[in-house]
Parts: sequence; C-alpha cells; structure tokens
Amino acid sequence: MRVLVVGGGGREHALCWAIAASPLCDALFCAPGNAGIAEEAECVPIAADAVDELVAFAKREKIDLVVVGPEAPLVLGLVDKLEAAGIRAFGPSAAAARLEGSKGFMKDLCAAHGVPTAAYGRFRDPAAAKAFVAQHGAPIVVKADGLAAGKGVTVAETVEEANAAIDAALAERRFGDAGAEIVVEEFLEGEEASFFALVDGKTALPLASAQDHKRVGDGDTGPNTGGMGAYSPAPIMTPALEAEVMERIVNPIVRAMAEAGTPYKGVLYAGLMIGKEGPKLIEINVRFGDPECQVLMPRLRSDILPALLAAAEGGLSHFDLRWIEQSALCVVMAAKGYPGPYGKGSEIRGLADAADGQDVIAFHAGTRNDRGRILADGGRVLGVTAIGASVDEAQRRAYAAIDRIDWPEGFCRRDIGWRAIGRG
Ligand code: AMP
Ligand code: GLY
Repeated sequence: MRVLVVGGGGREHALCWAIAASPLCDALFCAPGNAGIAEEAECVPIAADAVDELVAFAKREKIDLVVVGPEAPLVLGLVDKLEAAGIRAFGPSAAAARLEGSKGFMKDLCAAHGVPTAAYGRFRDPAAAKAFVAQHGAPIVVKADGLAAGKGVTVAETVEEANAAIDAALAERRFGDAGAEIVVEEFLEGEEASFFALVDGKTALPLASAQDHKRVGDGDTGPNTGGMGAYSPAPIMTPALEAEVMERIVNPIVRAMAEAGTPYKGVLYAGLMIGKEGPKLIEINVRFGDPECQVLMPRLRSDILPALLAAAEGGLSHFDLRWIEQSALCVVMAAKGYPGPYGKGSEIRGLADAADGQDVIAFHAGTRNDRGRILADGGRVLGVTAIGASVDEAQRRAYAAIDRIDWPEGFCRRDIGWRAIGRG
C-alpha cells in the first residue's frame, strides 16, 4: 500500500514510525513531515491544511490511504475531498469533525443522547452569558465554540474572571469567528484522563487510555501548552471504567452521529473528568492527541495499518488489537520561551545516543535537517518516549535519555507522570 500521513509534529512521527513497520506498507509519504519523520517516510513540502494540494498529490501519487494527523484539515473537509476523488482516508468528514470544531454542537449532541457531561449554556450575547454565570457562580468554565489553537478555554475561579473571558470572546473577539459563540459550563471536579477509540462509522474499537500534562511548569503550573508529556495507560482507567466510558460516552456518540447521517470515522479522543459521579465528557478531539499518540503507538503490538484501513472503509467489528502490558511515558522537549515566543534554528546534538529504538524512541516534532545537523524549528521540538514495567521505570528511562541530549536552548518538565508514580 501507498500511504500518505498529513502533519508534521510528534504525533505524525509516531504514526509514521508505526505505519512504516507494517509489512503492508510499500511506500510512505508525509506532508510536510520533519527531520525525524524523514527517516521513516518521504517528506513532501505541502502544508497540513493545504487541502487542495494534498488531494492533488494523493491523486498523482496513487495513494491508497491518507492518514490525517491534525484537526484543522479535517474541519476544512480534507477527508470529504479525498473521498470525492476516490481516495480512502482515515479521519472524519467535515460534518463529523464538528464534534471538535464546535463545542456547542458536541454539547447539544451529548444532551440529546444522555451522554454525561458538564451542564452548559450556548451564548452569542454577553449579557445572557453573564446572567448564566451569575446564576451558577464560580468556579465556572468559558469556552470559545470553535478551534482556538488550544487557547479558547478559561477555567474561571471567580465571577469577574468569567465575565472578562466572556467579553474577551464575544465583545473583543479575541478568538475571531471561533469565539463569536461561546459555551459556558459547570466546573467539573476530579481527575482528568483520555480514552481513545477507532471508529468506522458504526463500530467503535477501544484503543487505550492516557494522561497528559498541559501546563508548562513542574507541578502542573504556568500557562497551558499543547502538552508537555503523557503516559499510557492511565492508572485511574480500570477495565470497568473503560467499559463504562465505551457504553455511556463513546458508543452513544457513534450511534448518534450515524443516525444524524454524518457517521463518524477515524479516531475518537474522549477527554474525561473522572469524578464522584463517574466519568464525564469534557471534550472530544477528532484526532490522536499530541503527545498521547507518542505513548499509544509504542504500546501497540498489532499492525496499525489494517486497523486504520478498517476505520476508513468499515470492518472494525472483526478487529482485536493487542497491546503490550508495559507503560509508555513521553517527555516533550520544547524551545525555551514556549508557549510564548521562542527562537528557532539552534542545533540539537546527542540524539543518536539518547534513543535505542526499542525501549526509548526520540520522536521529532518541530525539527528540520540542515545538511545533517538537526535544528529546532518549532515550539515543541522533541518527544522522548520510553517503555517500562511501570510508569516509574518508563519515567526513569525517559529522563536518562533526555539527559544524554545536548540542546542548551531547550527545556522540559522534570515531573512527567508524577500523578501515576507509585500507582501504575
Ligand atoms: P478543553 O480544551 O475543552 O480540553 O479544555 C482545556 C482544559 O480545561 C481541560 O483539559 C480541563 O483541564 C479544563 N476544563 C475544560 N472544561 C472543564 C470543566 N467543565 N471542568 C473543569 N475543567 C475543565
Ligand atoms: N495533548 C492534548 C491534545 O492533543 O489535544
């Protein structure tokens, strides 16, 4: 098979690493890719959201399966256009990608089908939103409806903070059209975890759980980022809880989307809050997480490619994926300054000594190759994943590898996995 992976981050490196290992894969391309991906795939200089160019490339190169990494091209309808051109694609249609592209759409669907989630209201009028806040009190959560590069959510400790977030989105239009409508919702207490399932339009196949660290600083402090590290499985996600998440959250959503005539295909990433009343859905992402993908792929024992293909064209009900029992833990190295302004172009040395390709893998995110030198080329730059018998062991191995990497312009958190240490 000829496969094209769309994207150029750590998630896509992990996908390319897993797909390249499949005996079914004859040729692998990645658009636009990065310096690490170039070792697994032929990188093509097309941006991940250049939908028409991607379709033209896939036609010209007779691609059998396109695997879409990030959400932006999904929301823009890349899968619809590929399928219209007769090319199979892994990922949801634009209509189904609204589960991530519009938080209000997702909340209404949950409400209509009894999926447990935070109580909420949808607003375009600041006064009405503030009245909702006054009625419910703080803490309370204000969210831009659309995609806002991970910055559209405010967990407000006070009514004043909530009102300021309402004005920022609706009056000042800080998120542009993505914030022309907002969701205001109840603050959920508990522990966060993520659960992933492959979906083929009708059937959902559970994958595995993970937990990530969104804050930039040790102890989960400082501004939010795309994710500074992750591990899988999440010790809090017992088999019973996973079954409950499938039955009460994933399966009803898959059924509802099929009934609405917009069947969901691809990977469904359920962001959960595990509290006293059981699991509640915080958000849906219509793609693998980054860096969650970097801990899921190394735990997968089965060939990923037939499963991605089955999700794209139906047939997941016959599947049974096998996983290693061990834990995987990924530590992200970012350029100093991230998630604020950061420099590009510094050299990263020692990568070859850091990873052994078996228990430790150095996935690349924002890197480029300059005549054999690996240069930083983004905010999140590397994701070092290690396997271990426990989260503790995986953590020790990941940091031992990180300490062999020579990149003074980069930094990482030193406590990835702290919540799980001693529990898993
Ligand atoms: P989201 O972009 O929806 O994942 O929200 C970003 C982060 O905000 C989540 O990972 C949670 O940590 C937090 N969050 C979102 N919604 C809620 C909620 N209803 N209650 C508590 N925390 C929330
Ligand atoms: N790591 C969080 C995400 O991919 O959305």
